[in-house]
Amino acid sequence: MSQKITSRLFLKKSVERVRAEAGAQPFKRVLGPVDLVMLGIGCIIGAGIFVLTGNAAASFAGPAVLISFVIAGVACALTGLCYAELASALPVTGSAYTYSYTTLGEVFAWITGWLMVLELGVAVALVAVGFSGYTVSLLRDFGINIPPELANAYINSVNTGEGVRFVTGQGFNLVAVIGVFIVSILLIIGIETSVKVTRFVVMAKILVLIAFAIIGSQYIDTVNWTPFIPENEGGFSYGWPGVFRAASVIFFAYVGFETVCTAAAEARNPQRDLPIGIIGSLVVCTVIYVCVAAVLTGVVPFRQLGVADPMAVAVNVMELPWFGLVVKLGAIAGLFSVMLATTYGQTRVFYAMSRDGLLPALFARVHAKRRTPHIGTLVLGVAIALAAALLPITILSDLVTLGTALAFGIVCISVIWLRNERPDLERGFRVPDVGFTVKGKWIGLVPALGILFCILMVAPLLLDIVEKAMRGDAIPAILLGGYCALGAAIYWLYGLRHSKLAAGDNSVESSEFRQESV
Ligand code: ALA
Repeated sequence: MSQKITSRLFLKKSVERVRAEAGAQPFKRVLGPVDLVMLGIGCIIGAGIFVLTGNAAASFAGPAVLISFVIAGVACALTGLCYAELASALPVTGSAYTYSYTTLGEVFAWITGWLMVLELGVAVALVAVGFSGYTVSLLRDFGINIPPELANAYINSVNTGEGVRFVTGQGFNLVAVIGVFIVSILLIIGIETSVKVTRFVVMAKILVLIAFAIIGSQYIDTVNWTPFIPENEGGFSYGWPGVFRAASVIFFAYVGFETVCTAAAEARNPQRDLPIGIIGSLVVCTVIYVCVAAVLTGVVPFRQLGVADPMAVAVNVMELPWFGLVVKLGAIAGLFSVMLATTYGQTRVFYAMSRDGLLPALFARVHAKRRTPHIGTLVLGVAIALAAALLPITILSDLVTLGTALAFGIVCISVIWLRNERPDLERGFRVPDVGFTVKGKWIGLVPALGILFCILMVAPLLLDIVEKAMRGDAIPAILLGGYCALGAAIYWLYGLRHSKLAAGDNSVESSEFRQESV
């Protein structure tokens, strides 16, 4: 029996089956390379730069947050190359989830899918909190005051002087809930509408960030950059430990490039365009981030940046009120576009898991006319809205980094596995062949370094969660443990029993999902 279960857990989808499924998607192939780069940037630039950069500098790295950006950027570039190879070999919906189903087996596919909920779904909740912060601040500029209890989460983090602690009963972030609700409606209406909206807001946020870097560069006081790496004050406060802890926060700012892969089923020419979408959007965003972070820490002493709207603080120092309005509008547009694109990615991952029988069928029901997974989008919207209403940015960002870095690590392992098992497979893009062999197996330098960097992202964060729990502040540890337990329970009670692969269902066309209507 136990042997049966073991082989059952590691059941793999064949590459041929996965490729056949790609040709049987009910979605329309409407996205070109520009759409994909825009989709990537739409997901990438958001709360990371508009909100978390300030916190990372103020609490952990000081001006050296620039180094943190480079470390996190390198981690993402390495994984990005791995994603590009897998996406060009397996241009299917579901991204890392589907890759691991093909390479490592069903239980890893489930774990990856569950981690991707942290990477995408929880990320949307975090961005919605940032969206709420900038919206409330903009409304205040026009004399409209939103009561704090409608813009604060139920759980909040407070700095006691002896580290961050969590308090409950603070409020219910209704503004964030409204943001998530609008996004869900747009996605239910359909991908073409969503791409048009995304294009507009992506342009707006890029222009605002470029303007911030150019105008702000004239107000830089180099005294603010000295010392560049502030001396360590214990734990992860400044010094090199702080630089790495900040990198694990800043890592969030790059999350989203891989969402391009989840659109594989809707791309016109996935083999060529997915790598362009991934690497293109990553390069554009890295350049923008480094410039903006340099201006931010050069204009404002870093200890003053630990607020919800750090860029607005910098603009105040510049004494340009009109520009403050522009920045807030750009931030709101930017955060909104991330919510849109990332929720889109999450619904497609759930679609893939549901189609495989690992999640209930409702997540794979596609609207007859609109061709969108409408019910799944609605259910996800409610769950994301609740997380945004109840949890603070600090906890949400740690959960996202954890889920993302682990899922990224699985992607890097998948590249190594597929190269060894299926060297014959046609790949539109390949990571450089340089590497070494262990017992005759190729271990590529790029995926190996990718794994190393992912561990670097996760380690300081896990240590911090354990340290907090030992101090008696166990909320992050409880949330994390509860989340893992819930995932294990769902797989055990549902996925294991309904897996189509295990049941020998070889049909690649899920016709029952095509006929559903509202
Ligand atoms: N990278 C995205 C952001 O910064 C998730 O909001």
